[in-house]
Amino acid sequence: MPNKIPVGVLGATGAVGQKFVKLLENHPWFELTELAASDRSTGKKYAEATTWRQYTPIPEQVKDRLVKPCEPTLDCRLVFSGLDSSVAGEVEENFARAGYFVLSNSRNHRMDDDVPLLVPEVNPDHLDLIRSQRVKRGWSGAIVTNPNCSTIGLVMPLAPIHRAFGVKRLVVVTMKALSGAGYPGLSAIDMLGNVVPYIGGEEEKVETEPLKILGKLDGDAIRFADFPISAHTNRVFVEDGHMECVSVELEKKATPDDIAHVLSTFRSLPQELRLPSAPERPVIVTAERDRPQPRFDRDAGNAMSAVVGRIRECPVFDIRFTVLSHNTVRGAAGAAILNAEIMKAQKYFD
Ligand SMILES: NC(=O)c1ccc[n+]([C@@H]2O[C@H](COP(=O)([O-])OP(=O)(O)OC[C@H]3O[C@@H](n4cnc5c(N)ncnc54)[C@H](OP(=O)(O)O)[C@@H]3O)[C@@H](O)[C@H]2O)c1
Repeated sequence: MPNKIPVGVLGATGAVGQKFVKLLENHPWFELTELAASDRSTGKKYAEATTWRQYTPIPEQVKDRLVKPCEPTLDCRLVFSGLDSSVAGEVEENFARAGYFVLSNSRNHRMDDDVPLLVPEVNPDHLDLIRSQRVKRGWSGAIVTNPNCSTIGLVMPLAPIHRAFGVKRLVVVTMKALSGAGYPGLSAIDMLGNVVPYIGGEEEKVETEPLKILGKLDGDAIRFADFPISAHTNRVFVEDGHMECVSVELEKKATPDDIAHVLSTFRSLPQELRLPSAPERPVIVTAERDRPQPRFDRDAGNAMSAVVGRIRECPVFDIRFTVLSHNTVRGAAGAAILNAEIMKAQKYFD
């Protein structure tokens, strides 16, 4: 379609890259024109370069397309990046310098002062950082990031709770799915019948990223939210869908019913703007006593909603609950596409 915006995917052969390819297949605003990955894949047809692991067939229009190197000569306006973090930092900068908008999943630039760490339902105003990013770095393009796949599940319920009652401190225990480690990822022998209580760098991300996202834009800087987060992160034998158990102490007292009300009525700009990938309800509250569960709830709201259950009083803090979100959709490719949608709606690509 001539009026769609041409887009590319960097790291198109990986777990997140495949999800981009799948979600962009029939996107109303974006047309996937370019696929790029490492030297291992360059020059091959996409279907040969990638081990397709989605439950729908590889899209016809990309099957035979040649994978290109991650160089800023791609024929598109913006690039979605699912690059391995060992290379993402420099490659994404090269693209932004050359005038591309880069929607990144990698950790490399998330905490840079001048880079938005965006969750469109929570901090759409942080997109203003693009202005100072371009001036400071002399770029004609820009980098916008989405958070770590556990941070997003935590922040979606936390934002309305923090706004209504103020968060004083919190403890979160994550149970992260196998697909969060990419493909082929971890060895089945290491994971079968097992839980691994360590994921390198993960606790630091979950303890810091929410504070930037919930921070206030003050001129050209973000004033971080000011409360401590203690995170335990675990890898569990689940295919997709990250679970998190959260205990939170509040500034203003609230009952479980108050929390359920605030979460289930939470709506924001993406819903008002009716963005194509925006879920009708960013947070879905379930009253069933044994939900959410990854197998049954990860696809809620087209895998773009966070599902919260087991909201109850906490004898140590004030409130505790469990939240589930789909790590490769809301936690990665879907999040970056929603970021691009809000940027288009706000005329960044005009
Ligand atoms: N999986 C998740 O749930 C998730 C969630 C949020 C964020 N992330 C982040 O998203 C990024 C991708 O994760 P993933 O799970 O999709 O990893 P993955 O399956 O290992 O895919 C990595 C991709 O990076 C490409 N790549 C590796 N080295 C390269 C190089 N030197 N030059 C160019 N491309 C190179 C690979 O291309 P080849 O196939 O050609 O090697 C592949 O396309 C990571 O930064 C990760 O932390 C992942």
